Amino acid sequence: MVEATRGFGIDIGGSGIKGALVDLAQGQLIGDRIRIDTPKPSTPEAVADVVAEITGQAGWDGPVGVTLPAVVKKGVAHTAANIDRKWIGTDADALFAKRLGRGVDDIAMLNDADAAGMAEIRWGDPVARRGVTALLTFGTGIGSAVFQDGKLVPNTEFGHIEVDGFDAEKKAAASVKDNEDLSYPEWAERVNRYLSVLENLIWPDLFIVGGGVSKKSHKWVPLLDIRTPVIVASLQNNAGIVGAAAAAAEGIEH
Ligand code: BGC
Repeated sequence: MVEATRGFGIDIGGSGIKGALVDLAQGQLIGDRIRIDTPKPSTPEAVADVVAEITGQAGWDGPVGVTLPAVVKKGVAHTAANIDRKWIGTDADALFAKRLGRGVDDIAMLNDADAAGMAEIRWGDPVARRGVTALLTFGTGIGSAVFQDGKLVPNTEFGHIEVDGFDAEKKAAASVKDNEDLSYPEWAERVNRYLSVLENLIWPDLFIVGGGVSKKSHKWVPLLDIRTPVIVASLQNNAGIVGAAAAAAEGIEH
């Protein structure tokens, strides 16, 4: 078998849908990333149209890895915290295969944080490959991906643990910082509280923090004061795209 050296990944988020061609040897984007606003409402059909627009613009006709901000098992979405509720029960594999004119085996569907975590484990800091590592993505919601010695436990939903009586992501997601106009120190305090509750539940050896807000990590990561070491995602906000592309090239689904 000839190993694919390039793949295509699409990361579906609450505010934007981003896709790019990926160099699978380096774990890096090739050329420009295409970004289109997530349609409102973000129904499966409307999102599929955007995904087709992105692969069309890129002129890509190979396998495609796609992430969803949802629990995804065997290509089917089971939750929808930050995306239209019509996704619940949708066979996303079948939907995208049909819309993109590909076979279902050419589409790999994954949870967004799981895809980002897979990319970080493979191409990020090697320290993440030993012991229990938890990646948290801070964006519209909070996504989680947990690894034991580099092996993923898929579909953990640790953004939804209860912290001080609230769904954690409703207080500590990056979108909340913007919506409530919090300063970095104010928001960091919430992230700190969240991570300290989570570390007492799962006792990881390492936290990796990612999502768009990791680009400004110097403004908040040094303010964290918890037991577990924290590093910043090295692929930053492109990890989801890279992980999705790798999953598609290797036929990985959970
Ligand atoms: C969803 C997760 C997702 C995370 C980040 C949460 O609201 O439940 O599945 O990984 O947001 O997008």
